[in-house]
Amino acid sequence: MKSDSYDGTMHKPVRKAVIPAAGFGTRFLPFSKSVPKEMLPIVDRPVIQFIVAEAVAAGMDDILIVTSRHKKVMEDHFDRFPELEMALEQKGKTAELDEIIELTRMANIHFVRQGEALGLGHAIGMAETHVGDQPFVVLLGDDIMHERAGVLDGMVDAYNQHGSSVVALMEVDPDEISSYGCAAAEPTDNDRLHRVTGLVEKPAAAEAPSNLAVMGRYLFTPTIFDEIRSTGPGVGGEIQITDAMVSLLDREPLFGYSFTEGRFDTGKKEDYLRAVVELTLERDDVGPAFRDILADVCRREGLL
Ligand code: UTP
Repeated sequence: MKSDSYDGTMHKPVRKAVIPAAGFGTRFLPFSKSVPKEMLPIVDRPVIQFIVAEAVAAGMDDILIVTSRHKKVMEDHFDRFPELEMALEQKGKTAELDEIIELTRMANIHFVRQGEALGLGHAIGMAETHVGDQPFVVLLGDDIMHERAGVLDGMVDAYNQHGSSVVALMEVDPDEISSYGCAAAEPTDNDRLHRVTGLVEKPAAAEAPSNLAVMGRYLFTPTIFDEIRSTGPGVGGEIQITDAMVSLLDREPLFGYSFTEGRFDTGKKEDYLRAVVELTLERDDVGPAFRDILADVCRREGLL
């Protein structure tokens, strides 16, 4: 099946998503020693559930989570649990029952193990056999994007238009660029879309070609797998997806889809806390009570 595009060219539709979630999560120790940081809760739902939901909302029906030996709990989260289902049914807890069954039906969810955490590029490379010759999206397992940002939808639209790989880009303060992959980019006639001309992983501020940082979402043509296979260790001794993208640029165009807000890097403590606050306030059930709690605390701390 092929998808429609604006220029009349037909491109293969994007239906597969890869979620790398095999890293050590050292910024979240000691919690992440025994529980994957992707299982950090936003009230009663783990971060990874938000990521899967985002992929499904953007039209993905086949999801591969890259995991590791100490992260089996993620597989359990998306699996059936007959004893629990029966207990909920007997107790008439139908809302809870529906919710845990819905979790197992969100998409076809598969898992692959990354035996060693050799870097994000390596983790994405683990998806090659599963993805085959299809275009696919990558969503980092600890990066929540709010639906109001519309990032994945915008990236899929850009792919449908151009048939090329696309990365999400966000402007950051110059003193923060050394924490990210950084893109040199030229404008296109679409304000949101840039033509990427170069990439560098974690550049020093003085050497950064721009303040456009690569942020947690990628859409790749399968050519990226050739480039990952020939990419050796880079910054930090890790196989970096940025280095593979640099080689990709020699073969294919690469676009950047820019957005300005709505991203929570939940692998970072401060961003995780912001995600908990913002996403809890939006909920119909616990949101109003949480607003009162926050107001109370703010008054007590003299913040209001
Ligand atoms: P991060 O760099 O944020 O994750 O990678 P990390 O290495 O686990 O975190 P820290 O820096 O030690 O705190 C972004 C995403 O890529 C995955 C991570 O699980 C995370 O979801 N990743 C990273 C892998 O799957 N494999 C790797 O080898 C590295």
